[in-house]
Amino acid sequence: MLNFFKKKQKLEPDLKAGDDHYRAFIGPPEKYDLVSAMQFNLLTKYGLREHHRLLDIGCGSLRGGRLFIIYLLEHNYYGVEPEKWLVDDGIYHELGRGIVTLKKPQFIYTTAFDFAAFNTTFDFALAQSIFTHASSAQIHTCLKNLSHVSSDNFKFLASFIEGDENYEGDEWVYPACVRYRFEYLSDIVTQYGFVCRRLDEQHPNNHTWLLIEKKV
Ligand SMILES: C[S@@+](CC[C@H](N)C(=O)[O-])C[C@H]1O[C@@H](n2cnc3c(N)ncnc32)[C@H](O)[C@@H]1O
Repeated sequence: MLNFFKKKQKLEPDLKAGDDHYRAFIGPPEKYDLVSAMQFNLLTKYGLREHHRLLDIGCGSLRGGRLFIIYLLEHNYYGVEPEKWLVDDGIYHELGRGIVTLKKPQFIYTTAFDFAAFNTTFDFALAQSIFTHASSAQIHTCLKNLSHVSSDNFKFLASFIEGDENYEGDEWVYPACVRYRFEYLSDIVTQYGFVCRRLDEQHPNNHTWLLIEKKV
């Protein structure tokens, strides 16, 4: 409770990306609403329906989750996030306990991309601003683990920042971002039975969207 009041007392105009506040930790706080709407619009444009099961990788403070959880049928939203306080604050300030009771989203708190822990398969996955911070070893783990939990018509939307060179470190970088070449990511994707293409979609933070699907 004390933690909550401490965060609320800090005025939003003072906050910047990466600060210790549920709207700022995950990106520029002044774009929180915009990045919510973008995620929802994008996934519904690419076919997300209420009966699909969605895996939100690095769901943060439910910037997207607050819209997806309401839209999807109960039990269909699954969030993975190492920072439990973000999910707790997202529920407290944005979603409300009543919606959680009604829609029964599930969460795991881990850095291990351990999607099998949900013991189900997914129709859609989302990684909004995850490959923008992840090492290539983490991207490999993410795709390998997704290959074990993806349904036949699986669609995975992932944003990244395109660069001339690839980030070669072993660590998650945060709040700064890392870059990858499209061809490099495309090659990783194919190693796990997927194919990918760049989407011609706008992003408020100039990321590029990838659509990753099963190779047929
Ligand atoms: C830039 S934020 C994006 C949050 C959310 N996807 C959104 O766009 O609203 C990146 C998130 O990834 C989480 N994260 C860090 N390491 C992770 C890991 N190994 N697996 C999943 N998420 C991770 C961070 O805690 C943070 O919430």
